[in-house]
Amino acid sequence: MSLNIVAVLGSVREGRVGGLIGEYVAKTLAGKGHTVTIVDPMKEEYKLPLLDKRVFDYADAKDIPPSVVRIQKLFQAADAYVLVTPEYNSNAAPALLNTLHHYFPEYNRKVAGIVTYSISGGGGRIAGAALRPVIAQLQMISTPNPLSWPNVTPSSFDASGVPKDPLSVKSVEAFTSELEWFGLAIKKAKDAEAAKI
Ligand SMILES: Cc1cc2nc3c(=O)[nH]c(=O)nc-3n(C[C@H](O)[C@H](O)[C@H](O)COP(=O)(O)O)c2cc1C
Repeated sequence: MSLNIVAVLGSVREGRVGGLIGEYVAKTLAGKGHTVTIVDPMKEEYKLPLLDKRVFDYADAKDIPPSVVRIQKLFQAADAYVLVTPEYNSNAAPALLNTLHHYFPEYNRKVAGIVTYSISGGGGRIAGAALRPVIAQLQMISTPNPLSWPNVTPSSFDASGVPKDPLSVKSVEAFTSELEWFGLAIKKAKDAEAAKI
């Protein structure tokens, strides 16, 4: 059994480190046999309007911007999420929150793993803590141990996108294994429930 995972990026800064982090986490999950799609708000196809209406607030479906529908379809099909965010002023990145707030039922009873990072030794832990109640309100279950990646810059990765520090590789392995465990457990529970109907 494998999972369909959507990784949502938070940074839209030029020269960001977030892309490297998202790619490496996605690659690690793909190496475990899962399908991973990265929703990168820097890419044209995933650029959403600043939140005015949630997807279900549109009176007429033909008014919904194509990017909103595109991400909705990905989210509906997702078994699990990875939320990748830098710490900006002790909170999560606005582009991540903007993406999250456009949707609601698409998250119900799905697992979400939080990945935070920062240039400082804190690894974005404060942003991760701020994200937990948001995830809970959106009806997702966050994995017990977020990945907090400290002291990270683009030069923390080699030319093929692998972290130079073996400790970072180990941390990503532990984080993705836990996400996999909870994701599969929830998927099995849903399959068992569906089989009873
Ligand atoms: C607006 C802004 C706010 C930041 N606030 C924090 C912070 O609260 N704590 C921290 O450790 N680093 C903070 N930083 C530094 C980031 O950790 C660092 O710039 C990181 O590379 C941002 O991720 P990105 O390159 O993927 O955008 C901040 C950076 C920016 C641009």
